[in-house]
Amino acid sequence: MYRSNTCGELRLSDAGKQVTLAGWVQRVRKMGGMTFVDLRDRYGLTQLVFNEADNQVLCDAANKLGREYCIQVRGVVGERQSKNPKMDTGDIEILARELDILSPSLTPPFTIEDNTDGGDDLRMKYRYLDLRRPSVRKNLELRHRMTILIRNFLDDKDFIEVETPILIGSTPEGARDFVVPSRMNPGQFYALPQSPQTLKQLLMVAGFDRYFQIAKCFRDEDLRADRQPEFTQIDCEMSYVDQDDVIAIFEDMARMLFKEIRGVELPERLEQMTWHEAMRRFGSDKPDLRFGMEFVELKEAFSGKGDFSVFNEAKYIGGICVPGCADYTRKQLDQLTDFVKRPQVGAKGLVYIKYNADGTVKSSVDKFYAPGVLQEIKQAMGAKNGDLVLILSGDNVNKTRVQLCTLRLEMGDRLGLRDKNVFRCLWIVDFPLFEWSDEEQRLMATHHPFTMPNPDDIPLLEEHPEQVRAKAYDFVCNGIEVGGGSIRIHDTRLQGKMFKILGFTQERAEAQFGFLMNAFKYGAPPHAGLAFGLDRFVSIMAGLDSIRDCIAFPKNNSGRDVMLDAPSELDSKQLDELRIKVDLNQEG
Ligand code: AMO
Repeated sequence: MYRSNTCGELRLSDAGKQVTLAGWVQRVRKMGGMTFVDLRDRYGLTQLVFNEADNQVLCDAANKLGREYCIQVRGVVGERQSKNPKMDTGDIEILARELDILSPSLTPPFTIEDNTDGGDDLRMKYRYLDLRRPSVRKNLELRHRMTILIRNFLDDKDFIEVETPILIGSTPEGARDFVVPSRMNPGQFYALPQSPQTLKQLLMVAGFDRYFQIAKCFRDEDLRADRQPEFTQIDCEMSYVDQDDVIAIFEDMARMLFKEIRGVELPERLEQMTWHEAMRRFGSDKPDLRFGMEFVELKEAFSGKGDFSVFNEAKYIGGICVPGCADYTRKQLDQLTDFVKRPQVGAKGLVYIKYNADGTVKSSVDKFYAPGVLQEIKQAMGAKNGDLVLILSGDNVNKTRVQLCTLRLEMGDRLGLRDKNVFRCLWIVDFPLFEWSDEEQRLMATHHPFTMPNPDDIPLLEEHPEQVRAKAYDFVCNGIEVGGGSIRIHDTRLQGKMFKILGFTQERAEAQFGFLMNAFKYGAPPHAGLAFGLDRFVSIMAGLDSIRDCIAFPKNNSGRDVMLDAPSELDSKQLDELRIKVDLNQEG
């Protein structure tokens, strides 16, 4: 028997028991004739005591233990002299009688404690050591718990978990595919699924009625704190349902998770906000509702009131009222101006109006506008004395709104209004079916090409596709898109029309999606679905800044696994076998 108990288990009621523990040495302290060792495993920490007076040889051995040695100890549970109320096992200690080193350890490159001295790269390189830290381990335990709750919830509602293949053909989700060469089919490639979208739709045609999968997805896209090239979806699909049915089920699932994991009661029904409203009020299709500072459109209010050409020529002028910040200094305002002018934000400049506590007004545009105009703006903004109004303008309405959104979030952060223990969830609905892509110079599907247009807008499909709303919905929490889905097209003719609008030739649509279109000819039931990002859901629940912290072995921002040193080059034998030639001189 390696151990009788874990390191998180023993209490004062166990005093006098003979026990065997195994784990890692967290710390060794020598005090007089005593040596204290903190022993750690997944379950907690227990103090071991070695007494020179009892056994000099054993005590000498304990003094030689290094950090992270894996050891086994036999001893007796005793009451601790100086109790530690911060530790679950803080009332007891083990009076050691025998010690075995199961496996020695090199000195670890960083301390294995919550407050570690290891930088990001080092921790990723030695991720197996990083995972020994309780704060990181807890995130994975939470992930496990959420997965179990989700599986049970969906099983209860008659969803069947089905595994779909990882080696498939290209799936159109808008990102680039990761591809895998096929040795047996030289010159041909599999693609890894960006999501199991088409396969789950085929499962509906196959009559499974309710499907789910905790599915690995792969997307070759630029990485951010909430994006990994390899991530996990809670992927679901249902037959014979409309939008309200899907929303009701998954809202219940979210409610159950918030209750079980955080003890938080979501409202009986979550708010639903149209995409247009979200863009107008917050400049984002994933608004953070934990704080106000809603946009106020000021085009009318400024129009013809002064000779500031930037505003006179702008298509959109929008402001936010930052409470209590009229005392911002010149330097702070310059910093904010630099912030909005960064290429990532892209604004040309920032206009401010300080409505000072003493009733005076100071603005970067006060030479262009009479004091009366700035008072009208104060009213339009709902500003009080002591508030700061920040204004952006531009000639592209939505782009300017997105810039103002970045500024709003920045101010929310600065004022500490984005509290990680507050959860504001909502659905965004009525997305536009298409969005214009500057890169591709054509309309693209906002979600994916299988999304059903709003039936009221179908007559607009050919003449005004940009005005067509989609039967699509996103689940948003605290400014993060946690999930998204849609009602699917199950009619081959309508699907064909969609492909045409998206610029697919008949041949290309046939080659890429023939299998799905064909399947729809065999009695496809009306169906709909959605997928939550599991990594994002867990990181919101755990209050993490990056989804990396709830993934056991994540990639860094360049998409590398620094521990495995992947991706890496293949040797020439492997390349020859795959009939692949690598040409690094060619421009990418
Ligand atoms: P979508 O592309 O919106 O929809 O993805 C669904 C959810 O997956 C998560 N997600 C990601 N998480 C981490 N890293 C990424 N790179 C990443 N990309 C997406 C997000 C997102 O809300 N097949 C459709 C779903 C459907 O229509 O049923 C789909 O994949 O949380």
